[in-house]
Amino acid sequence: MDHAADAQRTDLMTLTRFVLNEQSKHPEARGDLTILLSHIVLGCKFVCAAVNKAGLAKLIGLAGDTNIQGEEQKKLDVLSNEVFIKALCSSGRANVLVSEENETEIYVETSRRGRFAPINISQYYHFLSRYCVVFDPLDGSSNIDCGVSIGTIFGIYMLKDGKAGVVSDVLRPGKEMVAAGYCLYGSSCMLVLSIGNGVHGFTLDPALGEFILTHPVMRVPRKGKIYSVNEGNAKHWDEPTKKYVEIAKFPTGGSVPKSLRYIGSMVADVHRTLLYGGIFMYPADKKSPNGKLRLLYEVFPMAYLVEQAGGQAFTGKERALDVVPKKIHERSPIFLGSFEDVEEIKSLYHASGLL
Ligand code: AHG
Ligand code: MN
Ligand code: MN
Repeated sequence: MDHAADAQRTDLMTLTRFVLNEQSKHPEARGDLTILLSHIVLGCKFVCAAVNKAGLAKLIGLAGDTNIQGEEQKKLDVLSNEVFIKALCSSGRANVLVSEENETEIYVETSRRGRFAPINISQYYHFLSRYCVVFDPLDGSSNIDCGVSIGTIFGIYMLKDGKAGVVSDVLRPGKEMVAAGYCLYGSSCMLVLSIGNGVHGFTLDPALGEFILTHPVMRVPRKGKIYSVNEGNAKHWDEPTKKYVEIAKFPTGGSVPKSLRYIGSMVADVHRTLLYGGIFMYPADKKSPNGKLRLLYEVFPMAYLVEQAGGQAFTGKERALDVVPKKIHERSPIFLGSFEDVEEIKSLYHASGLL
């Protein structure tokens, strides 16, 4: 019997085990991030199960539909939002939450913030909930009803000081995130995560109900052959974006044209970009001068992952992770992916004098 192969099959690196191992390299870590992430994982598993039976359970369709028992059916994005909020509040580790589905930020009640007794009884209790989570509970919702991949995106900040969270704890540049990730509900369910040590992909084993490390140390290819954009907006684009796409389609000097791939679910489009390389863009246009995608829970987490995987993320003006958001639902244009492809769009912006 081949013991080495056997060990490979049976010594499963689950996501929780992976995060625990990584965190044990930091002597000051208390396991709080591991606990927080395990609650996010629970939310992802729940949404994955709901997505898989969406047709059966009639979860699809408009919020407000009623089912056969006359009960109101929740639309999948409303349901996903509730699941994540409840999971995060129950973690005892979350403080401020920002969800795409909630107009204002959510402050987790003090009683649900977990606390530990001080060694010295004269000290105040220390709250354990040092994390702020920004998330898009269901991304790509226009694709739900036709069975195309959708996802969840999240980013995690740590409170600036140890006290009660305030909105400025989340109105911070993406480079201050301590972790970011997404879960893709596709042909398999995959969670892709970075806790600042590269990007690692985990696939849900439905039999075990565990995410298993299947894609360690993901690196975005240095240069790609794919561009990904909603070309229906081309009429309204600025010159550098038009030029980039023109060159992608009609390259000079004997180069081969790029392929166009656009799913319309950011998670799926970014996942492909991480694996195959290329560029994903949602540029500004005349109708939407700030683009469409939201900084906090779409642009930042994806920019964080792409940089951690060796790529770049650019807004058309600056490095995406440097932007300081003024509002929790602020939008930003985004160009992200292979290092050299993003470099190309950056030079077009420089040459255009728009910078
Ligand atoms: P959401 O479903 O969370 O509202 O996000 C949809 C986003 C994103 O997933 C995707 O990249 C983009 O919208 C697609 O927009 P267009 O339909 O304008 O191309
Ligand atoms: Mn979205
Ligand atoms: Mn959404």
